[in-house]
Amino acid sequence: MINLILVGPPGSGKGTQAKQIAEKYNLAHISTGDVLRKEVKEQTPLGKQAKAIMDRGELVSDDIVIGMIQNFIDNTKGTNGFLYDGFPRTVAQAEALNTMLHKKNMLVNSIIFMDADDDIFVQRIQQRAQLEGRADDADINVVKKRLQEYYQKTFPVKSFYEMKHSEYFYSVKADQAVENVFKDICQILDTVK
Ligand code: AP5
Repeated sequence: MINLILVGPPGSGKGTQAKQIAEKYNLAHISTGDVLRKEVKEQTPLGKQAKAIMDRGELVSDDIVIGMIQNFIDNTKGTNGFLYDGFPRTVAQAEALNTMLHKKNMLVNSIIFMDADDDIFVQRIQQRAQLEGRADDADINVVKKRLQEYYQKTFPVKSFYEMKHSEYFYSVKADQAVENVFKDICQILDTVK
């Protein structure tokens, strides 16, 4: 059973890679960002609460996303494993995931860090802003805030896994063409399977 986490700054390609990985390895994929954007679009109570926070480029509360992941794990059957895209983003989320998996006799057994210079990721987000109109891509100050949140709250998650799960921690060069990043990730996952 694979439990794969993709960690990396905004724009590092987590979502792009996650879709291909999930298909190839038959993993149940959750993007907490996509789930939250759906809630916002449907104007649910959760979406209304999350919208202002996301529009500012800040992280929504741990309780909200941990609850989303708990539902996802509890309600997913018949898969080779789970792929978490954009989660965990705080050490508290990482600890909660360990507890949830432990209760089901599972553990996080692959953490892939998407590594490259932030400038490249910012460029990608600016290009996407022109094409897709995602609310948090449009304003460079919001993009900078997302990066700041990443370094303050999510970068410690990388260190958490490097220290506690070093045998499962991998880094890939995220500034290559999409297909080459994917090839590198598959090489890693083929050893985990
Ligand atoms: P989320 O949706 O997770 O956004 P993000 O982390 O900012 O990541 P992005 O979607 O911008 O980038 P990505 O790394 O997935 O790259 P992508 O493949 O899209 O979160 C949004 C918000 O939701 C957060 O700010 C927060 O408010 C909230 N949230 C979500 N999860 C949360 C959590 N766990 N806790 C609290 N709050 C949470 O690629 C980006 C672009 O680059 C695309 O246009 C793509 O086509 C292109 N691209 C990708 N790879 C390549 C490549 N190799 N070469 C060239 N272009 C590429």
